Amino acid sequence: MLNFNYSIPTKIFFGKDQIKVLGKEIKKYGSKVLLAYGGGSIKKIGLYGEVIKILNEENIPFWELSGIEPNPRIESVREGIRICRENDIDFILPVGGGSTIDCAKVIAAGFFYEGDPWDLVIRKAKIEKVLPIASVLTLAATGSEMDAGAVITNPETKQKLGVGHPDMAPKFSILDPTYTFSVPASQTAAGTADIMSHILESYFSNNKDAFVQDKIAEGLLKTCIKYGPIAIKEPDNYEARANLMWASSLAINGLIRYGKEAIWSVHPLQHELGAYYDITHGVGLAILTPHWMRHVLSDSTVEKFVEYGKNVWDIKDDKYDYDIANEAIDKTQEFFKSLGIPTTLRELGIGEENLEKMARAVTNYNGGTVGSYKPLSYEDVLEIYKKAL
Ligand code: NZQ
Ligand code: ZN
Repeated sequence: MLNFNYSIPTKIFFGKDQIKVLGKEIKKYGSKVLLAYGGGSIKKIGLYGEVIKILNEENIPFWELSGIEPNPRIESVREGIRICRENDIDFILPVGGGSTIDCAKVIAAGFFYEGDPWDLVIRKAKIEKVLPIASVLTLAATGSEMDAGAVITNPETKQKLGVGHPDMAPKFSILDPTYTFSVPASQTAAGTADIMSHILESYFSNNKDAFVQDKIAEGLLKTCIKYGPIAIKEPDNYEARANLMWASSLAINGLIRYGKEAIWSVHPLQHELGAYYDITHGVGLAILTPHWMRHVLSDSTVEKFVEYGKNVWDIKDDKYDYDIANEAIDKTQEFFKSLGIPTTLRELGIGEENLEKMARAVTNYNGGTVGSYKPLSYEDVLEIYKKAL
């Protein structure tokens, strides 16, 4: 196991009616709030009204940024920074899914930067200081509620990139599974695939001795496999929504990645698709993941795939290693399909037109190769994209 410094600073308030702590908690960090949200789902479920009521009752002045897009755009970040500066806002409260939380994080960082916030995303400038943020989560997927990263899209340059800073981690997050009852089947499926992808990105690493982390990872994967289908069939099943929600946070908050070298492979490929085609993040991951797995399966990785097959998919140990590994990959693909997720890029309207450009961009941006498990060259990436068509 590699050395690591454990720090997961976000305080979690988990469960039904935990929103009651909101006013008191905000007052620990700020006095003027930017309430950030997406296209209106929080109004439909009554959460917007609940939050406004609390802010009013607690005499906390607030301003609003609405309409944050799925795959949040740099334009929304710019608008949020403008509102914050004009009104001396000192605390950001995103209420929604990963897109809303990510946008809020970069508003919080961009507030202290004089230039264009896109500079921070492309690492032309460094994040020095960040306004405090806290989140109220409504979709189990990205883990943004408990991590220090954000992913922002610039449609003009056709880039979707991740950015992070320890101070971008929410001070606290409210995780009430009942807020996710209204998440439609397609987003529940995409969210489940996203959580699984976060786990797999850390699970498949070249460190063979992080037993604790890998057993937690396997448990989290089994949680998604058990509860993803239940949440789709019974949207208001509390047990299913609660388990997915907590798995979402644990998958990416550092817990299963500490002590391992795990530079992600599939996410950068998916972010490129997102930049060009604005597709749902978890859908792209579900399509790419099995093809990435088949591409990296080799004599040096087969042992890990056997472990994955036996411990996650309960495949019997009575076959050759490669048969177990291939069955595990097939089961992964079948599972995503069973959730109703498309299995090919063509189903999303993606053809061959930009594959080479995307493969070039993602390898160049990552310094020549993508990921650390089996570093992917331009040719590797292109082949994975082509197989996923
Ligand atoms: O905009 P509203 O009206 O709120 O509707 C949203 C949106 O249309 C809807 N939704 C959210 N909660 C709902 C709901 N609908 C009904 N009931 C609810 N309770 O769902 C749609 C998708 O929302 P979005 O926030 O875009 O989804 P998600 O949470 O999957 O976030 C995706 C974004 O996060 C990034 C992705 O790349 C993508 O841009 N990621 C962020 C990460 C991070 N910060 O660590 C890591 C991830 O790997 C990922 O890259
Ligand atoms: Zn993801």
